[in-house]
Amino acid sequence: MIIIVSPKTRDEFKSYYELRYKVLRETWGLQKGTEKDDYEPISRHFMAVEESTREIIGVVKLFEKEPGVGWFSHMAVTPGHQHKGIGKLLLNFVEEEAKREGYKTLGCMARLNTTAFFEKAGYKINGLPSHYIGTTQVVWMEKTI
Ligand SMILES: CC(C)(COP(=O)(O)OP(=O)(O)OC[C@H]1O[C@@H](n2cnc3c(N)ncnc32)[C@H](O)[C@@H]1OP(=O)(O)O)[C@@H](O)C(=O)NCCC(=O)NCCS
Repeated sequence: MIIIVSPKTRDEFKSYYELRYKVLRETWGLQKGTEKDDYEPISRHFMAVEESTREIIGVVKLFEKEPGVGWFSHMAVTPGHQHKGIGKLLLNFVEEEAKREGYKTLGCMARLNTTAFFEKAGYKINGLPSHYIGTTQVVWMEKTI
């Protein structure tokens, strides 16, 4: 069974950031450390874990962008577990947490090759593609929750 929990111990945080780095940064040869942003301390961190093995297979974080608006970021699923519903599970979870926080809108900076994934969940592009991460530009997508 897959459960979603927050990392608590030093080792759990290590594995959490390692997954982020491997899936979101290493493929472009980006330096260790680039998997973190300025908002780590004000973020709530979540990870999908295979309960029987304790393997971490997906991650996402959530923080306040501005009053009433939540921002989730650094969503990643390990390549061996992609396209099995884990991303959707994390997205549903983070939406429920965002509602609980009282946000009325939830959004993310989506990589251009993943906008279809977020569109399926009701997110709409709002703005123009901006900066590059590796070889991919990102664009703000949001949804009223
Ligand atoms: C994007 C990502 C988080 C999606 O997670 P996932 O577990 O693979 O996705 P799911 O299996 O939950 O897919 C849910 C639905 O979206 C679709 N989907 C998944 N990835 C997609 C993509 N890149 N483009 C279009 N559709 C996609 C699935 O086919 C599925 O459709 P269905 O409900 O009609 O069957 C994951 O593939 C990933 O980590 N990719 C690499 C890192 C990345 O790009 N992260 C996002 C940064 S913005």
